[in-house]
Amino acid sequence: MNYSFAPHTKNYESSAVRDILKVTQQEHVISFAGGLPAEDIFPIEDVKIAYEKVFASGNSSLQYGLTEGFVPLREAIQFRMEQKEISSTPDNILLTTGSQQVIDLFSRIMLSPGDVVLTEDPTYLAALQVFQSYGAVIAAVRSDEHGMDPEDLQQKIVHLQPKFIYVIPTFSNPDGKVWNQERRQELLNLSYQYNVPILEDDPYGDIQFHPEEQYQPVAAMDVTKTHVIYTSTFSKSVVPALRTGWVTGPKEVIQMMAKAKQMNDLHSSSIDQQALYYLLRDFNLTAHIKRIRKEYYSRMTIMRDYLNKLKPGLFKWKEPKGGMFMWLEGEEGLNTTALLHKAVEKGVAFVPGAPFYVHEPKHNTFRLNFSHSSPEKLKLGMDRLVEVLLTPAVV
Ligand SMILES: Cc1ncc(COP(=O)(O)O)c(C=O)c1O
Repeated sequence: MNYSFAPHTKNYESSAVRDILKVTQQEHVISFAGGLPAEDIFPIEDVKIAYEKVFASGNSSLQYGLTEGFVPLREAIQFRMEQKEISSTPDNILLTTGSQQVIDLFSRIMLSPGDVVLTEDPTYLAALQVFQSYGAVIAAVRSDEHGMDPEDLQQKIVHLQPKFIYVIPTFSNPDGKVWNQERRQELLNLSYQYNVPILEDDPYGDIQFHPEEQYQPVAAMDVTKTHVIYTSTFSKSVVPALRTGWVTGPKEVIQMMAKAKQMNDLHSSSIDQQALYYLLRDFNLTAHIKRIRKEYYSRMTIMRDYLNKLKPGLFKWKEPKGGMFMWLEGEEGLNTTALLHKAVEKGVAFVPGAPFYVHEPKHNTFRLNFSHSSPEKLKLGMDRLVEVLLTPAVV
């Protein structure tokens, strides 16, 4: 049987990173490639107790639920959003199957083939794939360590008339960057001036290493409460397997996304949402997040100290202020895809940076994840990686 797939499926790209990850999943390889949280500090006992409470609460947890999601969990999220100075009500919060689904639903209600989305460069690969799947034209805005360049952003808004701007302002994936306050404000000002909505993706905002520094979500700065659609997730602060994220924004947008979600999957898992509700009610999530911050900071410093052993200037990188990733740029001409093969031979892996770029991939970049490996594995993996990085450039 020959299936004749719909023409739009030509825009479905298989993730180069997923293909690469397959190579790295051999038993002996210590992988810094995936974007995984630390399993060894998952609150497994508390998750178990939360599920017991769900089952003790009766049969309704096994029933169909509201598309918008379990109301008590939305109320709990409203409370957590207030702490970030993002005002919301359960009516303008939609629970989703991870924040990945938010990116998809928002694209689904906004994009027609040929529409433009503005992004950072590099940016989250799986968001690029979603935008492409709807036939969007992605245009990267010039960015530096502080965020998008406002001049370039303005020019691109004027010339390309984008449907929205997608940003990860706090501890980005892949490059760990955090935007400064001015750039956040400038983004917002341009969004007001030209009426272009912002999709703010904030999965890593809670994992900050320097609590004295404040990184206000762009959504919290939006005095109009109409220009920013904000999404976050429990994947990094609790566990990814619960597949629960959320989005908050103007009611008309959330309602339209709920309609799209209804067609997509009716609703996300009732049991998982109820378990999360009990977890948020009875478990000290704030204390757990503090533990994650401390642990990831300590793992990051292990990686940092190894990288500091390299000849100064051989790689450009910055110590991340939060999140789960380090981003490195090698000398001109270095090809990190070729380097990965050498690394895997030595029993260590990373992700080459090229697939995270929209236009002109920098083949000399790569991403390292420091959250997933235990400190012992981190040390062993970094011993191997430093050896690989010290071999002559692979062009
Ligand atoms: C920037 C970014 N956005 C969204 C997601 C999706 O997260 P989830 O669907 O698990 O909530 C990820 C996952 O790694 C991410 O890095």
